[in-house]
Amino acid sequence: MRIGVVGTGYVGLVSGTCFAEFGINVTCVDKDTNKIDGLKRGIMPIYEPGLESLVEKQIKSGRLSFTTDLGEAMKDADAVFIAVGTPPKIDDGQADMSYVYAAAKEIAQNLDGYTVIVTKSTVPVGTAREIEKIVKATNPDAKFDVCSNPEFLREGAAINDFMRPDRVVIGTDSERAAEIMRQLYRPLYINETPMVVTTPETSEIIKYAGNAFLATKITFINEIANLCEAAGADVQQVAKGIGLDGRIGSKFLHAGPGYGGSCFPKDTMALTQIGQKYRAPQNIIETVVWVNAERQRSMAERVIDACDGNVKDKKIAILGVSFKPNTDDVRESPALVIIPLLQEAGANIYAHDPIAMNEAKKHLDDVHWTQDAYEAATDADILVIITEWNEFRGLDIDRLGKIMKEKCIVDMRNIYKPKIMKQAGFRYISIGRPEVKSD
Ligand code: UDX
Repeated sequence: MRIGVVGTGYVGLVSGTCFAEFGINVTCVDKDTNKIDGLKRGIMPIYEPGLESLVEKQIKSGRLSFTTDLGEAMKDADAVFIAVGTPPKIDDGQADMSYVYAAAKEIAQNLDGYTVIVTKSTVPVGTAREIEKIVKATNPDAKFDVCSNPEFLREGAAINDFMRPDRVVIGTDSERAAEIMRQLYRPLYINETPMVVTTPETSEIIKYAGNAFLATKITFINEIANLCEAAGADVQQVAKGIGLDGRIGSKFLHAGPGYGGSCFPKDTMALTQIGQKYRAPQNIIETVVWVNAERQRSMAERVIDACDGNVKDKKIAILGVSFKPNTDDVRESPALVIIPLLQEAGANIYAHDPIAMNEAKKHLDDVHWTQDAYEAATDADILVIITEWNEFRGLDIDRLGKIMKEKCIVDMRNIYKPKIMKQAGFRYISIGRPEVKSD
C-alpha cells in the first residue's frame, strides 16, 4: 500500500515514519524546502527520542521518502493524510484551519483515482464535511472519501504511542474508506488493538474530549494540591488513594506548575470555542483554561514568597524550560510565564535545560544559559525545578549545598522527598506537600 502525508511536524513525520515501519510506502511532503532537504539527509526538524534512527531505517528500506511536491506524494496513493498545524488564532483561540483547507484544495487538484483523504491533525467538529465540500468544489469528478483519524501521540513518547496505541479511532461514513484504514493499521489490527469505527463528527469530538479530559484531570489534582498545602496533607498520597479506584486511574494525577505544550492549551481553548459555536458551552473546560493560566502565574509568586517576598537582584537558578521532559518543545511551557515574572520582580535568571535551550532562547531574553544544573546553582539564592528531566532527579544534594548561596529549593515537580531535603539542611518547598519545618 502507498500513502502521502502532508506536513512533517511532530504528527506528520512520526506518523509517516511509523506507517513505513508497518511496511507501507510513504511519501511525506512539506512546503518547507529546508525541512525536506534536511530530512533527506537524515536531519530531524524536531527532537523526538528514537525518531532519527527510525527515519534512517525507513529511508534505507526504500519505503520512506520526502518531497515538496504534493502531486508526487499522492501518486498511486491509497490515502493521503493531512497532518498540518491547526494553531490557535491569536484573537479568540479558535483553531486556524487555513493550512488544513489549503492542503485539502491542493489534494483535490492532484487526485488521481480513488483516494481516502484523512485528517490526522486535531480539527474542530465538522472539518471532514468541510473538506468534502472543498474537494468536490475543486474537483467535481474526484473519486474520494474523507476520514477522521486523530492522533494520540505524546511528545517524547510519540513513536511508542503510535506503535502501541490504546485504540485507533476511524471516523468515516464509507465502508470502503474504513477497510483501507484497517489495512493501513493492519499490524495493530492483528495485535487486537481496539478499533473505534464511527462517524467523522464523533471521531473529531473524541480527540478534543480526550485531551480536554486529561487537562481537566491534571487541573483537578493541581487544585487539590493547593488544599493539601493548606491542610497539611500530601497530594501524592491523595493521588495514589484516588487513583487506585479503577474508575479514576492513577495516570495524569501528578500535581505540578500547570500543563503546557502544543496540544492541551490549544485543544482546550478550541473546545470552548466549539462549545460556544454549537451553543453547548463547555463550562468546565472554560474554567480549566482559566485555572491553569492562573496557576502558571502563581508559581512565580511561590518563588518570590520563598525569598521572603523580594527577589530583586537575587540569583535564581531554573532547571528545565521545556513543557515536559524528553522534548525540545517549549510551547506554552510554565517556564515561559514564570521566568519573565521573576525578571520583572528584579531577579537574575540562570537556567539550564538538557535539550530545549535553543528553542527557549527564541522566547526568553536576558537569561544566563548554563552548561549544567550546577553552573546554574552556583551562588544561587534559590533553585527552582520546573521540568522533571531525569538528570534533575539525581542531583548531588551535598554539592548543591556547598555551591549555593542560600540552601533553598522550590521543586514544582515533587522530584525529591521533603524529609531528605530537610536533613540535608535545605528549605525545600514543593507542590501539595507540607514543608518540613525545623524540629
Ligand atoms: C498530549 C496528550 O497526552 C496526547 O495524547 C495528545 O495526542 C497530545 O497532547 P503532550 O502534550 O505531548 O500529549 O504531553 P503530555 O504528556 O500529555 O503532558 C501535557 C502537559 O501536562 C505537560 O505540560 C505535562 O507536564 C503536564 N502533566 C502531565 C502534568 O502536569 N501532570 C501529569 O500528571 C501529566
